[in-house]
Parts: sequence; C-alpha cells; structure tokens
Amino acid sequence: MDNLAVVILAAGKSTRMKSATSKVLHHLAGLPVVAYPVGEARRLKPEKIVLVVGKGQQRAFEEAIGGNVHFCTQTIAAGTGDAVRRAEKALRGFEGLIMIIPGDVPLITAEALEDFIGRALEEKAVCAVLSTSPESPFGYGRIIRDGAGGFSAIREEKDASDEERKVKEINTGIFLVQSKWLYENLKKITPHNAQKEYYLTDLVGLAASVNAKVSAIHLGPAEVFMGINDRAELANAGRIMRGLIARRFMLAGVTIEAPGETYIDSDVKIGGDSFIAPFVFLKGRTRIGRNCTVGAGAVIEDSVLGDNVVVKPYSVIEKSHIKDGAVVGPFSRVRPESRIEKGARVGNFVEVKKSVLCPGVKANHLSYIGDATIGAGTNVGCGTITCNYDGKKKHRTVIGRNVFIGSDVQFVAPVRIGADSIIGAGSCVTKNVPAGALAVARAKQVNVNGWARKRKK
Ligand code: UD1
Ligand code: MG
Repeated sequence: MDNLAVVILAAGKSTRMKSATSKVLHHLAGLPVVAYPVGEARRLKPEKIVLVVGKGQQRAFEEAIGGNVHFCTQTIAAGTGDAVRRAEKALRGFEGLIMIIPGDVPLITAEALEDFIGRALEEKAVCAVLSTSPESPFGYGRIIRDGAGGFSAIREEKDASDEERKVKEINTGIFLVQSKWLYENLKKITPHNAQKEYYLTDLVGLAASVNAKVSAIHLGPAEVFMGINDRAELANAGRIMRGLIARRFMLAGVTIEAPGETYIDSDVKIGGDSFIAPFVFLKGRTRIGRNCTVGAGAVIEDSVLGDNVVVKPYSVIEKSHIKDGAVVGPFSRVRPESRIEKGARVGNFVEVKKSVLCPGVKANHLSYIGDATIGAGTNVGCGTITCNYDGKKKHRTVIGRNVFIGSDVQFVAPVRIGADSIIGAGSCVTKNVPAGALAVARAKQVNVNGWARKRKK
C-alpha cells in the first residue's frame, strides 16, 4: 500500500515476562512473537517497516525476522510514545499514514489491519485507534468517551479511576496517524503518569484538547488483538494459535484427532489425507506429504516426509528426510542429516544418525546406525551397531545392496561391506568384506561334554 509506513514497537523492558530476553523474542508456535506482527505488516506491502528495538538487540531481532525492515534503537525504554519518536529518523522523507503496532500482538492478521485502515480513512481522523472489547479488560488502556460518546482519552490501567476501570472497551495499541501530525505532537507528550513514561496513548487527549479529530474504531473478535505481557498470556495465545493452525489443516483435508493436544508450528506444511494422532509435535519447517500417518507422541522437527509415510508412536525425527512409503517407529530416533529412502523401515529402539538407508532397507530392532550408508534391500539384524567413533574421529560404514546382517553385529568403522554378502550373527567386523562373501568374526564355540555335571560334585 502506497503512503503507508508501519512502526512496530519492540524495545520495552518486558518487566512482566521476568526474562533476560525481550518478551517479543519468546517463541509461540515455533516463531518469535514479534515475527507475527512483522509478517502481517509485510502483507500490507507498506512503503517501509520500522522496528524499534532496545540497545544491542538489533542482531537478535534480525535473526528472528529476516531482512527488509529498518531498525532503530530506543536506548532507554521510556514508554511507547518515546519509542515512536525514535523511529522518526528512519521515516525521514516519508509522508502519509503511519501505522503503529505493538510487537506483542501475535494473533493479529493483515485482514484486521486492512479493515482498520479502511474504517479509519472513512473517518478522516488525524489519529485513529483500533479498539476492542475483551472478556477481561484488565491491564489494557481504557477507551474513555465523553458524555456525548466522543472519544476523549485513553487511560492506562495504572492511572485509571475505579470508574474508568469498569470500561470494557480497550486500546489494542494499534494506531493509524498522519505522519506530520504525529511527529509534531509526539514532542508535546509528558511523562506525568503512574509509570513516569511517555505514553503514545496521550496523543488522543492531546488531539481532543485542540479539537483535532480522533476516532476509536471498534473491531473484533478481541483475541485477534491480544497483547502478550507475561508467560501466562504467552501460553494462552499459544493455545489459541495452535487451535487456528489445526483448524486450517483440518479444513484443508488433514485429520487431526485431538486438535487441542496437537502442537503444530506456524511454518509446518501437511498434505491432504494425512492423519495426525494426539500429542504430536510438528516443529520448525517440517513438511509432511499426502496420506501420511503420524502416531501419538511423535516429535518431528525441521524434517521432510514424502507421501504415505508412517511414523509410529513416540518417535523423534530431526532435520532428516523420510521418503515415500517409509515406516519409522515406534520408539525410533532419527537424528540430523539422515535419509530414509522409499519403503525403508526403521523400527523400535533404533537410532539413526547422519546415515542413508536406501530403498527397502529394514532395521527393525535395537540398533545404532551412525555415519553409515546401507544399500538397497539390506536387512539389518537386531542389535547391529556401527562403531563410528574411535575416541577422536568419526568414521563411515558403507554396506552394499542386499546384505544380510545377522543379529548383534558390530561394524568397526571405517569398513566396507560388499553387496550380497552375509554377516554371521554376533560378529565384530573390523575388515572389509568382499561382495557375495560370508563373514563370521566371533570366537568358535567350544562344547565340553559332561563339564556341568562334574562341577556340581
Ligand atoms: C500498551 C498500551 C495500552 C494498550 C496495550 C495493548 C501504552 C502506554 N499502553 O500497554 O493502552 O491497551 O498496549 O496491548 O501505549 N515498548 C517499547 N518501548 C517502551 C515501552 C514499550 O518499544 O518504552 C514496546 C514493547 O516492547 C511492546 C509494546 O511497545 O511490544 C507495548 O508495550 P507494553 O509494555 O506491552 O504496553 P502495555 O502495558 O501492554
Ligand atoms: Mg503489551
């Protein structure tokens, strides 16, 4: 949108969060809180987005939200009015409407903001405030109207009289102000209030006192504008966000058996006809294909699953690729940089790390496969271990196609096993095995006849 700049405030002290980290950098459904208003502001395509951050915080915020945003610093958190003043330099040369959004409103949507802009333009006010009516107005600034219903002031909770606290209509913190008027009047704000801060909200009283037009534009539902000041509110917003995410997937054809008990991050994608059981966590940039099943309690992070993949209960998969038709779990752990190819199976109590299991490999029970490549069709017996670490370095195990590995085999890496070979159960393999060979590396069995009876005597 032409003629629009957005200023997002994120330099507050986060007192109520009781955290060394800015409250807006705390995560909600996989993203920092501030990433949500920034993302929705981007959807408005304004000429400029300015983010006001605390001293020394720019790097952390850049990591949190990526590029395309102008930063400015508020060295001392002297209030929301002061924070907006800090953005003046970054807005030099811009003339038009400035939308101010607090950084702590993660449930905001571009649609609601567009609605607000449309209504504000109709009103032709110098300053418009987005108001709403939550179930409990506690903690918010109240919209004060005069006898004639005219909007005359915003009163912060801490400054409000008992009578004013009864008001249900609150300030969402979202403003739309003409740039020239904003910067002329911000200078006039004083910190004479309970918190000794420069309140942005005092703009309303200022405008009303000189008969400049201010409007409070009431929109709902209130939860869209919810501000996150402490960890209880963060958890509450997280619950609402998860509900919205789950609903979006269900309407797109994904079965989510218990949406209230399923944790899907904002950046996750899931294909149609997939089934997600309760207590599943899908984190980060996880991609799940069509017709997959993710069993109860599975945790999948930054991973890509093809179509028709089955992840059985209580499996943990990180930064890995599980191809079409593969089956993982129950109780499997797939660690980063692993690739489980088409139709391969990883079963219970199997740990895979930085390894490739080619199509059709079966590793069904109790194994550690680290730094290995396992050829197509190979059967990995129960209890197989790749001994990849010599105390200093990691080494690779390369196993060919259609190998039969008996139970309880150790491969002391680096070692190569040729295709179509057979490894006897209980072997400790330290040397390469040629293709098609039988390798047995275990002590020969000795039977001493009658020994047990003799010992009893
Ligand atoms: C603010 C409003 C209140 C409104 C509520 C909506 C003021 C004075 N009060 O209160 O009327 O109902 O939001 O959620 O504006 N910030 C800075 N620098 C500062 C102080 C704050 O950048 O010096 C940032 C914070 O990081 C935060 C945002 O501004 O992202 C709002 O500040 P916060 O302390 O949450 O204000 P509230 O008390 O919630
Ligand atoms: Mg707040």
